[in-house]
Amino acid sequence: MTSSPLKVAASVLAADFARLGDEVQAVDRAGADWIHVDIMDGRFVPEISFGPAVVKAIRRSTAKPLNVHLMIVEPERSLERYREAGADHLLVQAEPGSTVHLHRVLSRVRELGCRPGVVIDPATPIAWIEHVLHLVDIVLVMTVNPGYGGQAFLPEMLPKIAALRALCGERGLAPHIEVDGGQDAATVRRSVDAGANVIVAGTAIFGTPDYTAAIAAMRTAAR
Ligand code: DX5
Ligand code: ZN
Repeated sequence: MTSSPLKVAASVLAADFARLGDEVQAVDRAGADWIHVDIMDGRFVPEISFGPAVVKAIRRSTAKPLNVHLMIVEPERSLERYREAGADHLLVQAEPGSTVHLHRVLSRVRELGCRPGVVIDPATPIAWIEHVLHLVDIVLVMTVNPGYGGQAFLPEMLPKIAALRALCGERGLAPHIEVDGGQDAATVRRSVDAGANVIVAGTAIFGTPDYTAAIAAMRTAAR
C-alpha cells in the first residue's frame, strides 16, 4: 500500500470526439489530475485512435499533465513528435511487439525532457521490466488487454500490482504505479489496496452524466 495521494487520470478515449476540447475542459474542471491519451496504431493493437495532431489539440484545452500511452509499434520513431505536440509523460509498452530496445527508448524519453513510463500488458511478467525500473517515473499495469475502452477489470492483476510495489520498495524506488482498464469506484479500492496510486478511467467518468461526481466517487472509494 502506498501513502501518496490518489491521482485520477481521465482517459479521453471514452470522450465524445466531436466535442473533444469541451470534454477535456470538462474533466479538467471536474478534478482530474492527469489527462490520459491513448495512441493506437492499428498494429500493436487492432484499433486506430489518433496521433500527434489530436494530442496538440488536447494540449490547447488543458494545462494538466498529458499522460500519453503509446500502444504503437516502434515508438522510437515518433517520440519527438509527441513531445512537440505537448505530451508530459510518454508511456511505452514493454513488449517486443512494440519496441525491441526498451531501455534505449525509455532513456530517450528522459533525454527529450518528458517523464518516462513503462506499460505491461496482462500477460507480461514483472521480470520483463526489472532492469528498466530505475529509468521510469511511472509503471502502468494494464488491468485489461489494451486496445479498447469499456472492458471488464482483470482481478488476477491485483497480485501483480502488489508484487511490483514490493519490488520497487526493495530497490528503493517509488515510481507512480498506474492502473488502466475497467477501473471504477469498486475496482479502485482493490487496486489501491494492492499498491496502485494512479487510476486511469475512461468509461467510469465519460460514461456518466456528472464527471465531478464520478471522480469524487473514485477518490472516496480509495480512502
Ligand atoms: C485501453 C486503454 C485505456 C482505456 C480504458 O487500451 O489503454 O486507457 O481508455 O478505458 P476504460 O476506463 O473504459 O476501461
Ligand atoms: Zn491507456
